[in-house]
Formats: sequence, C-alpha cells, structure tokens
Amino acid sequence: MKKNAIVGQSGGPTSVINASLYGVVYEALNREDVIGTIYGMINGIEGFLNENMMDMKPLEVNGELELIKTTPGSYLGSCRYKLPEDLTDAVYPQLFEKFEKYNIGYFFYIGGNDSMDTVSKLSRYAETVNSEIRFIGIPKTIDNDLVLTDHTPGFGSAAKYVASTVREIAIDASVYDNKKSVTIVEIMGRHAGWLAAASVLARKFEGDNPVLIYLPEVAFDQEQFLADVQKAFEHTSNLVVCISEGINDGNGKFVCELASDVGVDTFGHKMLTGSGKYLENLVKDRLGVKVRSIELNVNQRCSSAMLSATDEKEAIASGSFGVQTALKGTTGMMIAFHRTDDADYHITYAPEDVNLICNQEKTVPLDWITGNGSDIGQQFIDYAQPLIQGSVKVPEEGGLPKFAYRKCNCSEPSKIS
Ligand code: F6P
Repeated sequence: MKKNAIVGQSGGPTSVINASLYGVVYEALNREDVIGTIYGMINGIEGFLNENMMDMKPLEVNGELELIKTTPGSYLGSCRYKLPEDLTDAVYPQLFEKFEKYNIGYFFYIGGNDSMDTVSKLSRYAETVNSEIRFIGIPKTIDNDLVLTDHTPGFGSAAKYVASTVREIAIDASVYDNKKSVTIVEIMGRHAGWLAAASVLARKFEGDNPVLIYLPEVAFDQEQFLADVQKAFEHTSNLVVCISEGINDGNGKFVCELASDVGVDTFGHKMLTGSGKYLENLVKDRLGVKVRSIELNVNQRCSSAMLSATDEKEAIASGSFGVQTALKGTTGMMIAFHRTDDADYHITYAPEDVNLICNQEKTVPLDWITGNGSDIGQQFIDYAQPLIQGSVKVPEEGGLPKFAYRKCNCSEPSKIS
C-alpha cells in the first residue's frame, strides 16, 4: 500500500519558501507511483496536532500550484512551536497516532534552525518506536544562519532586496548635497549579520554608500559609532549607515533593548527591532545633524518584485531533492547546499544530519568584516554576488502581482476539497 506524504512550513517566511513547497509537491506528484495523497499541514506541526491540513493535489489542477512559486509568505501558514525536549512527553505518541491515521510515510518540514529542531525530535522519536516514517528538513531563512550548508534559500532574494533598496535610498539621500545627513537602515537577521552585510552589494564604487555597515558579530560601541560617522563626513555629506537588527554590546545587551523592552518568542528568541530608531535619536542628540532611520522590516523577506532567479531555482530544487532523498529511505536529514570549487558558481545538494544543524547559528566569519567592525570585505562580496543573480517575472493582474491564496482552512480533514 502506498504511503502518503505531508509537508509543512515553519518560522518566519521568505520570498521563496513557497518555491520550496512547490518543489516538494511537484516532485511528490510526479512520484504518484509510490506516494499516495500529499497533505499540507496548515500552520506547521502546531496545526497538524489539530489535524489542520489540506490535500495539495487539487492545486495542480486549477493552476494554483504554479502561482505558489512566486507568492511570498508561507502558503500553508506557519508556527513557532517548540516540541518538548523530553521524548517521553505525551505529545509524541499523539503525533505518531495521527501520522498513522493518515498513513504518513514521508514528512517534509521547510524551515530554519528551530524548525530543524522539530525534524530532529520527530526523527529521534521515530527511532525509539521503530517508525518507518522518513523525516526530511528543507532549509529556509533570510538570516542565512544554518550550519553545514553554503547558504539557505530565501537569503539570495532578501539580499537582492536589501542591496537594491539601499542603492535606491542612497540616491534619495544624496539630493541635498550641501547639508550633512545620516540615513540609518535597519536590516533583519537576528544574531547573524549575513543580510545586513548584503547592503555592501549596493555600492557602485569605492567609498560609495552605504559607507558604514555594522553586524552583530562585532561588539557595537556607541562612541565609536559616533566617531565613525564624524570621520565619514570628511568624505561624504549624505551618509547611509546599515545596521543589523541584532547589533549588541558584545555582552548580550542588544542596542534595541536600550530603547524599550523586547518580547521573546516560544523558542526564547528576543524580538529584535528598534536599533535604527535608537541610533537616530543618538545622532540627533549628539551630532545635531539631519537624521532618519528606516526599518526594512518584513519587506525584505516578502518582496516578489525582487526575487532572485538563482534563489527561486535552488529553493525549488531543494524541495524536489528532499522528496527524492526520502524515497531513498533517508531520514533525520536536512537538504544542504554545497558550492563546488568550479570557477563558475555551481551548487550540488546533499543530505546532512539535522541533529548537527538544529539550534546552531552560523555567523559571518570575522575576517570578512573589515574597517574595524564598520565595513564588509571582498570575500563576502564574492560569496554573495552569485546568490542574487537573475530576476523572476511574477504573473500580474490589474497591474499588480498575482498571488496564490489558500482558500481552505480545513480544520476537519474529512472536509478537504
Ligand atoms: O528568522 C527569520 C526572521 O525573519 C528574522 O530575521 C527575524 O528577526 C524574525 O524572523 C522575525 O520573526 P517573526 O516574524 O516571527 O516576528
């Protein structure tokens, strides 16, 4: 008897997380010889606990599946849900009873380090009960902070958005040439500075904006920052400064915490936002020049206009490779990206142990950070440039992007259409 497959999305979305979903579903539909129904879990593992799921096949019939490829957000909805550390917790038999009820043989979870924690726990529990279900993680995150993979889907498009937007901001900031100004751009990425570093790609020549870039990997010193700004004014009157949302003093205190209390999510991560505003006030008070801060916020992870064709292609490929990997009998693995040594950029895909990936964070190598912690070196540029190449034509309706919308919120699987 054929086994069914189930796929879910978890954590913060990216502009290509649905391209990975497309890759999984497309490949699984192609393997109807061995795979039965392909379910999508609504709101990740949390939704699955309530049997909130949908059948993905009808999407192929009405053209929705094609549209999903270029739709931002997480089509299936997301969650930030931490499974208990204790594998004897009652939630595990509950979940596995539901897997059995729906005859699940293949489980795919598209997400970042926290989501790989879910894949790790489920696959470890499966071993204890001799379950044959194959658990596979498909990477995603604009933070690009997963270990054992060259990069993660979602980063390339977010990097392209950041670099293009910062280039546009720099042009706007330059119009009043005779008056000093500072524009501070706050970029996502939590404790890793990959995405903030991508702002360096906006530069058209040496000394161009963004003149200063600060990452969480290097302790942030406010006095040094003010001195850097003063020094930069010697060459540029309209300064653009890019900062990561996670800049901190090196002792665990985030700059955004100096402005107001920050909340935590279920994984205990502080919700980092507001460093740009804090520094805006600092510059205003101490330097008395015109200053404005811009928080790129969720725009950087949901822009369909700025999709990288390379990123989209790789997101789809990792999804379909995940299905092929599960069908070979592999479990407890995440699909990693390996960059070959060829002169031209080339990626191969390989399963890597999810237990070594979950809950780890890969930060920007310190020797890629230059300018005494205020600039990014050529190694990063060489690394990141291939990831932002190519653009994607997004279908339009009425002059606007046409997206796929999930019509079904199927809390009762029996009502799945
Ligand atoms: O993990 C990806 C990410 O986009 C981070 O860059 C950001 O700090 C976080 O998610 C925000 O999470 P949420 O959308 O759940 O508030």
